[in-house]
Amino acid sequence: MPTTLTSDVANLDYAGKPLSLPVITGSEGEVGIDISQLRAKTGAITFDPGFGNTGACRSAITFIDGEKGILRYRGYPIEELSEKSTFLEVAWLLIKGELPTGGQLAGFTDAVKHHTMVHQDFGRFFEGFPKDAHPMPVCAAAVGALATFYQDPETPPHVEDSVTRLIAKMPTIASYSYKHSIGQPFMYPKNSLGYASNFLHMMFATPCEEFEVNPVLAKAVDLLLILHADHEQNCSTSTVRVVGSSRANLFASIAAGISALWGSLHGGANQQVIEMLDQIEAEGGDVQTFVNRAKDKKDNSRLMGFGHRVYKNFDPRATILKKACTEVLGTLGIKSRQLEIAMKLEDIALKDDYFISHRLYPNVDFYSGIIYKALGIPVNMFTVMFTLGRLPGWIAQWLEMRSDPDTRIVRPRQIYTGATQRAYVPMSARP
Ligand code: ACO
Repeated sequence: MPTTLTSDVANLDYAGKPLSLPVITGSEGEVGIDISQLRAKTGAITFDPGFGNTGACRSAITFIDGEKGILRYRGYPIEELSEKSTFLEVAWLLIKGELPTGGQLAGFTDAVKHHTMVHQDFGRFFEGFPKDAHPMPVCAAAVGALATFYQDPETPPHVEDSVTRLIAKMPTIASYSYKHSIGQPFMYPKNSLGYASNFLHMMFATPCEEFEVNPVLAKAVDLLLILHADHEQNCSTSTVRVVGSSRANLFASIAAGISALWGSLHGGANQQVIEMLDQIEAEGGDVQTFVNRAKDKKDNSRLMGFGHRVYKNFDPRATILKKACTEVLGTLGIKSRQLEIAMKLEDIALKDDYFISHRLYPNVDFYSGIIYKALGIPVNMFTVMFTLGRLPGWIAQWLEMRSDPDTRIVRPRQIYTGATQRAYVPMSARP
């Protein structure tokens, strides 16, 4: 059902001037008050730090009901997609709007396979980074640099090529950023392998040694990518939209999204979760003491992997990942001390008044790091894994934003709180 403008209005009385604001209703009954005329009619703006109450766009891609713990891509529940689909199928769904037919998926898979290599000159680009460079800024820089290799005008067929190139080259770029950090030669993609297997091959094979990809590992990576594929207007996706709203190209917009994702309150949290679990273990495994510190406002510690701006019930991705975590570790015969601590932490936190009253539940990052660890993915690559997964979501949102006739360059206002006009003080008169 398309988004409709209902006949309902919200009435505002500001400084004695009544104003009727149109109400917009989404297909799932979400209600937004359209304040786009507010400043023109009253001179006032809205104030909403962190944009927690601001709808910045109409979107038909992902639906989240944070109160009920619902996540759907294009109407399909995440539980079903994660069980029945592959990542490339989900990528197509997000970008094109419908599940692919057999022919469409075969064509898309083939196109992706034939764009996996990066330009030979591009490989040299990595040599300029310090050896200990974190792979996230390396990925951001590399994706931004793709714009220098593909400078075609933004016509629909060229944009379609850019989309395929990004999805195809991202695992290559991600694994190159890792190989660079450990001083190993880059591995060329192997097009006989599936998307996740190819990534694992480029990460772990060397010119001296093949890497036999365990299908359990490849399936787990595919699942992780699906779970991260989109999450409506989160920080990095909004960044992609904001940058793209200035007509910056797709590569530049996605590079900005990668930078936003790197932050520890966003995609960087998966790395922080593992570091937190290791810290708890190093301090003797006292989970209760750490929970107490996370509640203490004088202590900077937070329970990483807990809490979410939108989910005030459980995060459905965390539920899927907790199950997958136990299964993958069981199949691989891995006994994880981190998983034991994480489950204890979750158990204590979910019974604790502070976490109950603040409605803080495990989010997607709480268990993802434990699986990555079991798969042999190094900790500094966790957020890069998130990037690989989120890529189709960013692309879908960028395309939607570009084709939306309501899109304007993003330019928020502010409430100025600085000095009012004052006389200039010459240098000789300054203290
Ligand atoms: N541990 C302890 N207290 C917390 C936590 C936490 N993980 N998260 C929120 N709180 C508390 C805050 O101290 C605050 O308490 P107060 O109202 O008593 O002052 C209250 O809960 C609200 O917190 P905010 O930071 O205002 O909530 P916001 O919606 O802005 O932030 C966020 C959400 C950033 C995810 C936050 O919960 C957090 O920092 N979590 C840990 C980091 C994390 O796991 N990030 C990954 C998120 S998922 C993703 O990006 C993929």
